[in-house]
Amino acid sequence: MTPSTLFVCVLCRFSASESKAVPRPGQALFDELSKAIEHSDGITLQPVRCMGACRSACVAAFAAPNKLTLVLSNLSPTESVSDLLQFGHQHASCTDGKVPYKERPETIKQKIHVVLPLLPNHSP
Ligand code: FES
Repeated sequence: MTPSTLFVCVLCRFSASESKAVPRPGQALFDELSKAIEHSDGITLQPVRCMGACRSACVAAFAAPNKLTLVLSNLSPTESVSDLLQFGHQHASCTDGKVPYKERPETIKQKIHVVLPLLPNHSP
């Protein structure tokens, strides 16, 4: 198993009028995942400050060396947590990160924003 990193944008908010909301929805998602992930193997949670999909909050991404990168958007800060954790384990367990579509949790099926291919191997 190659551990996967789950990046979560902690600055995400649903609208500009939420600027004073504490915590922001992205931070709330990160906090909920932090609580739930304590006893989970194979997932490293990493906060980030914007991934450029600000109009589609909340945003998170799964990435690992030699695996597909999946960016997810329009995530609920509370209702997406269990599906994100389930998919994190699937992504970590899968050699190339290509978890079969029908095996993915519903949140992952519905909230894919973009999928990035594996980087080419340029080693000499
Ligand atoms: S503020 Fe979250 S993606 Fe930009």
